[in-house]
Amino acid sequence: MSQTVEGAKDFMPINGTDYLEFYVSNAKQAAHYYKSAFGFKSLAYKGLETGSKELESYVVVQDKIRLVLTSPLKSGTEVGKHIDTHGDGVKVTALWVDDATYAYNEAIKRGATHYMKPITEKDEHGEVVRSGIYSYGEVVHIFVERKNYNGVFLPGFVVWETANYNPEPVGLKYVDHMVGNVALGQMNHWVKFYEEVMGFTQIMSFDDKDISTEFTALMSKVMSSGNGRIKFPINEPAPGLKKSQVDEYLEFYEGEGVQHIAVATDNIVKTVTELRDRGVEFLRVPDSYYDVLTERVGKIDEDIEALRPLGILVDRDDEGYLLQIFTKTVQARPTMFFEIIQRKGATSFGKGNFKALFEALEREQELRGTL
Ligand code: FE2
Repeated sequence: MSQTVEGAKDFMPINGTDYLEFYVSNAKQAAHYYKSAFGFKSLAYKGLETGSKELESYVVVQDKIRLVLTSPLKSGTEVGKHIDTHGDGVKVTALWVDDATYAYNEAIKRGATHYMKPITEKDEHGEVVRSGIYSYGEVVHIFVERKNYNGVFLPGFVVWETANYNPEPVGLKYVDHMVGNVALGQMNHWVKFYEEVMGFTQIMSFDDKDISTEFTALMSKVMSSGNGRIKFPINEPAPGLKKSQVDEYLEFYEGEGVQHIAVATDNIVKTVTELRDRGVEFLRVPDSYYDVLTERVGKIDEDIEALRPLGILVDRDDEGYLLQIFTKTVQARPTMFFEIIQRKGATSFGKGNFKALFEALEREQELRGTL
């Protein structure tokens, strides 16, 4: 692993993740899943009742995390084509900026591929400016400028009221990082894209010796925005004896895309207990992982016997430690999943858990016949 710490030229300050939009085949049911299983609350809606004739979107929220679930209302839409190719998946990573026109112009000037020119949308709550560029695969970044807006989400959406059903949150706070899988040989291309177009800095890199098992390997570089609020690790497959999880993703997603979204909690034991009680499925490492845990990471605040039954993993770096766990994939295709992470000083990504995790993933692949 190597670390690069020289400061990014932050010509594009990003305040945070504004929202993540998934294109899914049944937005209404997906929204219900994120509410009932992940503890999100209803926030906003657009569809036939609001004059949206082609697309229906449900927006759910938990603390700083907003998910938009979008489905087509007819055949032949861009959203429908996206779903036909990729299955359910992340289309938009929206980034909250102070000036969406400036962000777009800077990105285009530096070589970004155009997705959406700056547009101003208005309603009785003010106005929002949005613009967009392409990232890897068909994923796009939309810049959102909302300083002149005090509505619930975006113009065009109405409040989605579900007074009789809003499950308790599970303690998810914000998006910690979002990982992309790109094709063999493409990782450095996208590293350069984030450096040159977005002003990001590479803060870590892992080669196939760091991330490998007996059978499979991958490589990864972590890109960070200038202020550190946005972190995008980028994976590419590495040659191994068998097909890696990244290869499996690329095959089933039929292209590059978002592999996992890591969401932060400040009480992972409570959060994961809640998620499991609501039916969320997690990857399991062998029990022997816990027998050598203290030896590997030293003393931690949590009782290891509380982590063991939940399958929560621990890793340590120079600055502290972190606790993390990964869900199984959350749609029909074995593509995207979530990570739940609690940081106690550590700023890294759990390198010490990679091997145990990838062996757990290989067991899942084995069951699917895709290893
Ligand atoms: Fe992660």
